[in-house]
Amino acid sequence: MPAPVLRLTDIEKVYQTSTIETTALHRVNLTINRGEFVSVMGPSGCGKSTLLSLMGLLDEPTSGTIEVDGRAVQSYSDKELAGLRNQKIGFVFQSYHLINDLAVVDNVELPLLYRPGLNGRERRQRALVALDKVGLSARTGHFPSQLSGGQRQRVAIARALAGGPEIILADEPTGNLDSVMGEEIMNLLLALNQQDGVTIVMVTHDEQQAQKTQRVVRFFDGSQVG
Ligand SMILES: Nc1ncnc2c1ncn2[C@@H]1O[C@H](COP(=O)(O)OP(=O)(O)O)[C@@H](O)[C@H]1O
Ligand SMILES: [Mg+2]
Repeated sequence: MPAPVLRLTDIEKVYQTSTIETTALHRVNLTINRGEFVSVMGPSGCGKSTLLSLMGLLDEPTSGTIEVDGRAVQSYSDKELAGLRNQKIGFVFQSYHLINDLAVVDNVELPLLYRPGLNGRERRQRALVALDKVGLSARTGHFPSQLSGGQRQRVAIARALAGGPEIILADEPTGNLDSVMGEEIMNLLLALNQQDGVTIVMVTHDEQQAQKTQRVVRFFDGSQVG
């Protein structure tokens, strides 16, 4: 039986600025089951990044409910929510979000600094295991500027993996890459899903990539259209 890891019910997200109100998401109902690889497609501005930030508990909906492991987010304490964000969910962004002054291994260790109970040695060990997983064992001491775009994105994926997340939320992870490097990243995500059972939600504009995932959800103007 499929086990819902994330469930969004009747989600509305309205952004209010001084001059305009934007409905970024309208009546969204979406369930992500454990072990799924789901892609999210739709034109620019249709609400995809908003959806991912809600799923990642980085922002709150204007109305509607979000459940994690069958439990409404409102019922978690702030401390529990911080733990979910830090441990259960890993983020990967189009522009990598690496810190240029830090070596690769230090970038990967960074989120582990907020993890209680891990000493420096354990952090380093986890970071090296994650870098090995993405094929970057030979680049741990490099700086992001010394890497290709595809390698930078692999560092970002290692950073997400180091925390041992159940879910990876990837927002156009291949958007800045050429097709060869994009395919490399896509294959890595597919392997993480198939071999390690990581649940993945990925925003993409690439129909071929989307077809390799188990399910495609499509948005238009804040609403789910398929
Ligand atoms: N922080 C924000 N404040 C105001 N409007 C926003 C904000 N973030 C996104 N929006 C608006 O919400 C809509 C959906 O944006 P977004 O989720 O980024 O779309 P996508 O990722 O599909 O391009 C857009 O109209 C965008 O301009
Ligand atoms: Mg976006």
